[in-house]
Amino acid sequence: MGDRIMNTQALIDTAQALVADHKGLLAMDESTPTCNRRFAALGIPQTEDARRAWRELIIVTRGLNECISGVILYDETIRQHTQEGTSFLNVLIESGILAGIKVDMGAKEVPEHPGEKITAGLDGLSERLAEYAQMGARFAKWRAVFAIGEALPGHPCIEANAHALACYAALCQDAGLVPVVEPEVLMTGTHTLARCQEVTVQVLTSVFHHLQEQEVMLEGIILKPNMVLPGLNCAEHSTADAVTDATIACLLQVVPVTVPGIAFLSGGQSPQMASSRLNALNTVSKTPLPWALTFSFARAIQQPALEIWHGENVNVEAAQAALLHRARCNHAARRGAYTDAMEQSNP
Ligand code: G3H
Repeated sequence: MGDRIMNTQALIDTAQALVADHKGLLAMDESTPTCNRRFAALGIPQTEDARRAWRELIIVTRGLNECISGVILYDETIRQHTQEGTSFLNVLIESGILAGIKVDMGAKEVPEHPGEKITAGLDGLSERLAEYAQMGARFAKWRAVFAIGEALPGHPCIEANAHALACYAALCQDAGLVPVVEPEVLMTGTHTLARCQEVTVQVLTSVFHHLQEQEVMLEGIILKPNMVLPGLNCAEHSTADAVTDATIACLLQVVPVTVPGIAFLSGGQSPQMASSRLNALNTVSKTPLPWALTFSFARAIQQPALEIWHGENVNVEAAQAALLHRARCNHAARRGAYTDAMEQSNP
């Protein structure tokens, strides 16, 4: 706690820097099994060197720093180097992009609560945070997931995940790292937009309750929630305006005004849909919202580029152009300047 107070100004400055200049975050912190699964779907070899080559392609993309304020790395990645031998951390520091690190150990099944998961990783977390901070990381990420079902998510699962998120956030601030707090209500399912709104309000209410209990300084966090969306297999159509209104209403109801930024995850939306919804969220409100609304996308920035790269050196330049295009679209969406025309001029 003493350290947290000493770190106050630095934490506020880092959180502000992450949302400054209409920039956003690029999540490239897939765990090895997740990264391998995405590679396998495209026939890319699932080796450490292929993962390294993919992550190098991303961070050396010229112009990325004009749209991206921070990237979230995975433990394997934060220790890697470019083919020429420069550490990934130095590449980022030189381009003015802040390095973040995923520190949770994954969402684990709870045998007595089928369909629910609780995120692990608090054991030894202080020591791991101290090491990452010493290496040069400036922020961290912890993700909890909540599936919607008839009786899901249950109260104990919400409470356990919210409590863990708050403990993580407190430990991050003690270590001088800005916590990105990610409670993700999943899109999978047949639930309606209204049900997603209800669950997201429930989850975020619990998260902020626990953050306050742990005396986390809200000016020094970034919230990374889902947009409020109908389930992928919902029979009812929701208009774009309904999605925007439900998301804004939910956030206004539960997110304290002291939180500097809300960086949405993409959650499996198509890249264009994610940009277009972020754009709408940034244009709908007639009065200015209390927090910056930005992005912390993984798939919605990386996927088109990954499909072009396909593990082949010859495709690196084209993949980087596609990556930069998505970063630019989301940078524009933060200012409400994203248009369909931007997609037509896609290189
Ligand atoms: O934890 C999940 C990622 O940071 C965000 O991934 O944008 O593909 O949902 P996504």
